[in-house]
Amino acid sequence: MPTTSAMSQRRRLTIGLWLGLVLVSPRTFTAPGRISRQAKAGGTDPMLSYQDEEYWERRYSTGDKGVHSDIIDDRGVGWLCSYAGPVQETLNAITGGDRSKVLLNIGCGMDQLSPDIYKDGYTNLLSSDISRHAIAEMAKQTAEEMPLAKWFVDDVTRMNLPDESVDVVVDKGTLDAVLIQSEPFLLAARMLKEVQRVLKEGGIYFLITHGRGDPDTWRLPVLTLPHLSFNIAKTPDMGGYFIFVCTKLPQPDAAAAAAQWDEAEAWAKKRDEEDREAEYAAVDEIGQ
Ligand SMILES: C[S@@+](CC[C@H](N)C(=O)[O-])C[C@H]1O[C@@H](n2cnc3c(N)ncnc32)[C@H](O)[C@@H]1O
Repeated sequence: MPTTSAMSQRRRLTIGLWLGLVLVSPRTFTAPGRISRQAKAGGTDPMLSYQDEEYWERRYSTGDKGVHSDIIDDRGVGWLCSYAGPVQETLNAITGGDRSKVLLNIGCGMDQLSPDIYKDGYTNLLSSDISRHAIAEMAKQTAEEMPLAKWFVDDVTRMNLPDESVDVVVDKGTLDAVLIQSEPFLLAARMLKEVQRVLKEGGIYFLITHGRGDPDTWRLPVLTLPHLSFNIAKTPDMGGYFIFVCTKLPQPDAAAAAAQWDEAEAWAKKRDEEDREAEYAAVDEIGQ
């Protein structure tokens, strides 16, 4: 994967520091570590897992967590953390307290993040998820107290939103979920291309992630793929999660953007293929 000093330099921080956010120093591109994915076993219902669209649909509609025994309260705090505290403080810092900003919560699920953000005064709030049940239920439950909010079914890897229409994309645990799906790097590259597309210039991708405990290894390389132009700031460990504040920089012209995407896509496909081969090799070894 090419490493260009120009690419690294672009990532210098231009937004202020708060909450211990640290500069992501210019660095060379390094491939993320391997993700060992849970095998998708036969596609039968009981074995559906986080990487399956149907898993979330069933989980949200029945409460059945299937093969997982996580302790997440999907209708409460949800994944990683609640709004009050570092998330709220960071959001208020990056919006400068401007409640008219357009916010998009991707992979919103059914937790309280969108209702809490709305209650905080951000009423220009869009919330999307791939789960039809989550969206229908949230729209119904919040119709009275969130009359201006918009809920819609959407796939983060091909969003149904216009270019440059959003000030802040909020993501709590959704990149994490995409990075365990089949072809994780290709899907994450597509997702982040879409995030960048829908953001206004100067807009912010506000990522709350578990980062597999080491975001420099597991998240930063994906956020700095060649087709992405973000200034990146990140927090230290906030207690099992990390916050990334990625500010969209001026974009290259169409020809340069297309070339950068080709480069990123080729790398992601190769990386997914390498992981698949490693997985098959591991299975072969177990079988011998
Ligand atoms: C780990 S959960 C996080 C849910 C919620 N943000 C929270 O913090 O509780 C991941 C969410 O991403 C959604 N999701 C997974 N793949 C998606 C995709 N391709 N497009 C949109 N949403 C997706 C799931 O339905 C699920 O709600």
